[in-house]
Amino acid sequence: MSAETTPSDAFLELRDLRIHFPTDDGLVKSVDGLSFRLERGKTLGIVGESGSGKSVTSLGILGLHNRKNARVSGEIWLDGAELVSSTQEYVRGLRGKRMAMIFQDPLSAMHPYYTVGNQIIEAYRVHHRVSKAVARKHAIEMLGRVGIPNPAQRVDDYPHQFSGGMRQRAMIAMALCCDPELLIADEPTTALDVTVQAQILDLMRDLQRDFNAALIIITHDLGVVAELSDDILVMYGGKCVEYGTAENIFETPEHPYTWGLLGSMPRLDRESTERLLPIKGSPPSLINIPPGCAFHPRCSYADRTGGKGSAEVPELSEVRGGHKVRCHLPANERHAIWESEIKPVLEAQ
Ligand SMILES: Nc1ncnc2c1ncn2[C@@H]1O[C@H](COP(=O)(O)OP(=O)(O)OP(=O)(O)O)[C@@H](O)[C@H]1O
Ligand code: SF4
Ligand SMILES: [Mg+2]
Repeated sequence: MSAETTPSDAFLELRDLRIHFPTDDGLVKSVDGLSFRLERGKTLGIVGESGSGKSVTSLGILGLHNRKNARVSGEIWLDGAELVSSTQEYVRGLRGKRMAMIFQDPLSAMHPYYTVGNQIIEAYRVHHRVSKAVARKHAIEMLGRVGIPNPAQRVDDYPHQFSGGMRQRAMIAMALCCDPELLIADEPTTALDVTVQAQILDLMRDLQRDFNAALIIITHDLGVVAELSDDILVMYGGKCVEYGTAENIFETPEHPYTWGLLGSMPRLDRESTERLLPIKGSPPSLINIPPGCAFHPRCSYADRTGGKGSAEVPELSEVRGGHKVRCHLPANERHAIWESEIKPVLEAQ
């Protein structure tokens, strides 16, 4: 952090966050210049395909990268304190209490040999000097709050005695037990079937309203964040390629990659799992990110910018009112493609 840096007035603000890993094969640029702001009570969806840097970002915010093998630069401001330049002890003290995380797979985040209740009790007692009896009462309350039936009995169950959906609820209870102000949910519903997915998303929406936390939901599926997010950040190759309100992203998306994500949303409402406009090719290696616009090898419009796509990294520039996009195509051309080529196909289904 440079000396002239001004503190952020946002609840959470990332400024030019970079997280690189030196490896034998080369430098992995997992997060490469990410910036955003998030206020209490608001939800940000971070969306992108596998390997775009979503989890590395969330672990970075929580200070969970090993400083020996991760090169972290930029700034992460949480309520007036800068975390990248803070000590690991300081950031560890915030984890669980002021910021907490819900992982995709509760089984890997929960200890198999301890009861669900004991794990919530321990998580609570790390930050609160209370008796076991008081913490147990709180654990039962939290399990009830996240919709576990008979919480006073189920508190003594082991994780494997819970169904997948209930385990996810229990992990949410554990994450919320210290009333964190920032909650990061990394693919919270990916491992669950569609009905349970919808229930967990409803639960998260209700809880976020009650707790007034800032919530980050990370997913590869735009459908998951459609109803929950105030703002959406679309990530590709470690960078933000589009940022806007949920309305911006769903009604007037600007980036060809976002169009691809919209076209490849699973159709939850239909039996068919057909993708409307799948994105061709596969995500880039973060060791050899394509030059210029990282998306150019997969972009159907790359030839419309006179070779610029493979030569120059496009800036993330504002379209209007906070809606930003990283693409060389002129705005009027993007609008025309969306209106005449993409939107009609998506709406025709
Ligand atoms: N400790 C590490 N050392 C080297 N490379 C890493 C490390 N952690 C993550 N990476 C690489 O960083 C890139 C981004 O990984 P990340 O886990 O953030 O992707 P993701 O967007 O969360 O993907 P998914 O949707 O599959 O969870 C990947 O190429 C991954 O291999
Ligand atoms: S800059 Fe070019 S290659 Fe990249 S998304 Fe825009 S049109 Fe496609
Ligand atoms: Mg991930």
